[in-house]
Amino acid sequence: MTTPAYSPGLEGVVAGETAICTVDGGLSYRGYGVGDLSAHCSFDEVAYLLLYGELPAAGQLKEFQTRVAAARRLPAPLKELLAALPKWTTPLDALRTAVSALGHFDQDAADNSRDANLRKAERLLAQIPVVIADHYRIAKGLPEVLARQDLPHAANFLYMLRGAEAAPAEVKALDVSLILYAEHEFNASTFAARVIVSTLSDLHSGVTGAIGALKGPLHGGANEKVMDILLATGGPDRAEDWTRAALARKERIMGFGHRVYKTGDVRAGILKTYARTAAEANAARAGENDPLKWEDTADIIERVMAAEKNMFPNLDWPAGRLYHAMKLEIPLYTPIFAMSRISGWAAHVIEQLDNNRLIRPRALYKGPAARSVKPLAERGEQSAG
Ligand code: CMC
Repeated sequence: MTTPAYSPGLEGVVAGETAICTVDGGLSYRGYGVGDLSAHCSFDEVAYLLLYGELPAAGQLKEFQTRVAAARRLPAPLKELLAALPKWTTPLDALRTAVSALGHFDQDAADNSRDANLRKAERLLAQIPVVIADHYRIAKGLPEVLARQDLPHAANFLYMLRGAEAAPAEVKALDVSLILYAEHEFNASTFAARVIVSTLSDLHSGVTGAIGALKGPLHGGANEKVMDILLATGGPDRAEDWTRAALARKERIMGFGHRVYKTGDVRAGILKTYARTAAEANAARAGENDPLKWEDTADIIERVMAAEKNMFPNLDWPAGRLYHAMKLEIPLYTPIFAMSRISGWAAHVIEQLDNNRLIRPRALYKGPAARSVKPLAERGEQSAG
């Protein structure tokens, strides 16, 4: 038998086929570049594209939005569960638990047919923002805000979270971030979802596992750490020294670097403009006198990272700043990523099941050579190593 090829972290390994997305030649979803999509489409259109394979015509979009809006509610026992979670539960952990629980209440949960999975995907697309907003308001002791049927995904989420409609520019900025977060080929969380359903498990299990994978700071959790880093620098005056010192301590600057993109992430460039505009608009509204403080800080860190590490921002870098400028609390940032990526996860689950083969790779064994078991009485204590 030949020795199987080994690549740590599966770097460069082609682990499957997909028609959903490619990072080759710039990121595109089903053939459309993300720049084109974010300039001309809403997140709702992009979610439809990912799930159904083509951009919707006006009538198809309306029907899709109507179905999704009608599913924007949670079973009463889930609301009780959200209220019963310990107060230190993070919004992302609450979301992971809630998606798992939602499987119990979904009549299609065990049906893995394409139609049932599309129905479940639409419901999760609708329910995830409700979970995030409801848990947020429950944790703060705020009264529940019911979902609006007439608002698209981004606008309804901000409405439920804040209890008031957001300004159009804010909705647009959030919407663009959702488009850019929606899908990214075989990233860790999507791959996790595909591994899970490749056993012929179900969509809710795949998405629950995906949320667990998204949580880590090397993946989706990075957008929360971005703002922690910017705040830790204290501002533009100390940003360069802070960054050099962090690099000297061999720390990672979250929001930089990427397993695939080594010369930059096209998504980061698109969202940077929105982060800057949001910072200016919101600081002016709040009467702050240094609206671009965190944008200027970010520019300095970008320069140091390019010069010292030849490393460039990924999408999480401007996303963290955009959400901060929108006065969203940091622990909501990764859940917002999930509220978008559900469209990509579900598309991949469906694609995996359309042409399934169990995902079961090999490991390169590095353990002890073959040996015989000694009877218990003859064994001395040995460290596990
Ligand atoms: N800051 C400082 N050093 C870094 C960084 C960073 N952000 N990223 C990688 N390095 C260094 C790393 O310390 C290592 O150095 P050395 O060889 O001296 O040990 C070297 O670069 C290679 O690191 P690696 O982890 O093997 O590289 P990778 O290509 O597998 O890493 C990554 C990809 C995203 C895990 C990594 O760049 C990283 O940790 N970035 C920060 C976290 C982050 O922003 N994640 C979001 C990714 S994109 C959106 C998403 O999926 O959510």
